[in-house]
Amino acid sequence: MGYTGHRPALDVVLEGLRRLEYRGYDSAGVAVLDGEGGLAVERKAGRLANLEARLDEVGRDTLTGGTGMGHTRWATHGAPIDRNSHPHRDTTGRIAVVHNGIIENFAQLRAELEADGVELASDTDSETAAHLVARVYDGDLAAAVRTVCRRLEGAFTLVVTHVDEPDKVVAARRSSPLVVGVGDGETFLASDVAAFIEHTRDAVELGQDQIVTITKDGYEVTDFHGEPVQAKPFQVNWDLSAAEKGGHDYFMLKEIEEQPEALANTLRGHFADGRIVLDEQRLADQDLRDVDKVFVVACGTAYHSGLVAKYAIEHWTRLPVECELASEFRYRDPVLDRDTLVVAISQSGETADTLEAVRHAREQKARVLAICNTNGAQIPRESDAVLYTHAGPEIGVAATKTFLAQIAANYLVGLALAQARGTKYPDEVAREFRELEAMPAAVQHALGTVDQVRALGRELSDSKAVLFLGRHVGFPVALEGALKLKELAYMHAEGFAAGELKHGPIALIEDQLPVVVVMPSPKGRAVLHSKLLSNISEIQARGARTIVIAEEGDDTVKPFADHLIEVPAVPTLLQPLVSSVPLQVLAAEIARSRGYDVDKPRNLAKSVTVE
Ligand code: AGP
Repeated sequence: MGYTGHRPALDVVLEGLRRLEYRGYDSAGVAVLDGEGGLAVERKAGRLANLEARLDEVGRDTLTGGTGMGHTRWATHGAPIDRNSHPHRDTTGRIAVVHNGIIENFAQLRAELEADGVELASDTDSETAAHLVARVYDGDLAAAVRTVCRRLEGAFTLVVTHVDEPDKVVAARRSSPLVVGVGDGETFLASDVAAFIEHTRDAVELGQDQIVTITKDGYEVTDFHGEPVQAKPFQVNWDLSAAEKGGHDYFMLKEIEEQPEALANTLRGHFADGRIVLDEQRLADQDLRDVDKVFVVACGTAYHSGLVAKYAIEHWTRLPVECELASEFRYRDPVLDRDTLVVAISQSGETADTLEAVRHAREQKARVLAICNTNGAQIPRESDAVLYTHAGPEIGVAATKTFLAQIAANYLVGLALAQARGTKYPDEVAREFRELEAMPAAVQHALGTVDQVRALGRELSDSKAVLFLGRHVGFPVALEGALKLKELAYMHAEGFAAGELKHGPIALIEDQLPVVVVMPSPKGRAVLHSKLLSNISEIQARGARTIVIAEEGDDTVKPFADHLIEVPAVPTLLQPLVSSVPLQVLAAEIARSRGYDVDKPRNLAKSVTVE
């Protein structure tokens, strides 16, 4: 959030942060320029209320002025504590910066600054931007920000102020949201329009690699080289509630559409100099080479991402992988030792079942790698190594973007193991990573089925039950599709390995019973494709209504599909990333058709912190 205009900046910025708090809430901070060379900053870990209490403590009159900025943080680099909170300042305290995103080359930039004798005060990537701007500033803040942005790699929205230019705020955007609000004698900057639509509905969308300078009289946009750019004004026609949800009725629907970005952000920075690099790597390559068995432990949707991972990790590393429900894991007295790697998957990082499984594994001397979406949560803190997903905060109780991000993170672990153990040559690892990098676009393409699937959801909303079938990596997708329907529409749903049908479940098939079938590519394991078609014939013969998720152009499935939903062709092991999307939308639409609260399903909590 940034502001300059005729109102007290502190009030406007705090109000904007309240609207943005759902985007990240592990710390918050504000900076206000008093126009006479003063720059006051207050920041606090925890919810926005902690910052407000801090401001009451110090006295809000210490932050007066018409120009300011603020930030609610969702930590990526650096635990959610006071000194890591934004705004960050340069050593003179004359420049303040807030940042949303991931500066991939921050380690190199930090080293450069430290070599110059700069003492960094935080563990964050964001702070480097403040010092870099200070180093190049020569009286033109926009020029200084442009110079710095040309050196940054990764995703970033930066908002910058300088005490020598108290009537302006400069911001930069690359692969991270930023929008301008144009008021009467005042101008706003924010990650989304919810922050300022109480004041103005005249907005301007910024494009990739653009710099905007706002003053109370308006704004100017250039590219990173200073060339003027024509930005796109638009009218915000959402109400506040819809604005927070990107125009959707529910956060979950917005989060389904954020999946390409969640994937891209999770993969970002994990391939450098021809190698996979994990976060906070506290497991050396030798540790990974010593691994002789892998357990994946998780709950619910996270467990389903682990089931998908099992196929990839076994295929790439030839290590035995067991995927276990965390709540069962420690009670069955699993065989664990120092050469066992336990991968604990949890978007919240606070799930009690998974946390207890991690503790049990460590008591047995196994090494634990956490895959988590929440920086500084309990499970990563108690693990040997961490790989953070960067899906951003997930408000909907039903996991969607964190599920896809977990699958991608699992693949990174699998490739890191294969790389360390030499079961994949470097060029093979590079090729697999490039295929992963193509997935955000493939998921974006799969989102093209949303309207078709929603219409189907409305048709099926009165069904008594829905079955889901899959084979190979399609089997965990079937389980996940069933879980989504159970938890959102309170409808009986069950996922099966299609080969199991004849061993009992086929007795469930009756006339018009909807059965969703997750088809593999005809170009992948052809035998799986043909066997699944046989399974569909068996259920069609008994009256089932078949909904087939299949690869675009796979005409062989058409006679078997009462409803055909086509997803883009992707490599076999990556198919869950695209085939899961229609199943998320189907469950959400059936729930919405039934009049249920899609974001807050009955009986459920976002994080289950009790066993
Ligand atoms: C999934 O839609 C559910 N919200 C639930 O199954 C969830 O995946 C499970 O509770 C695990 O949560 P975690 O990832 O935070 O550990």
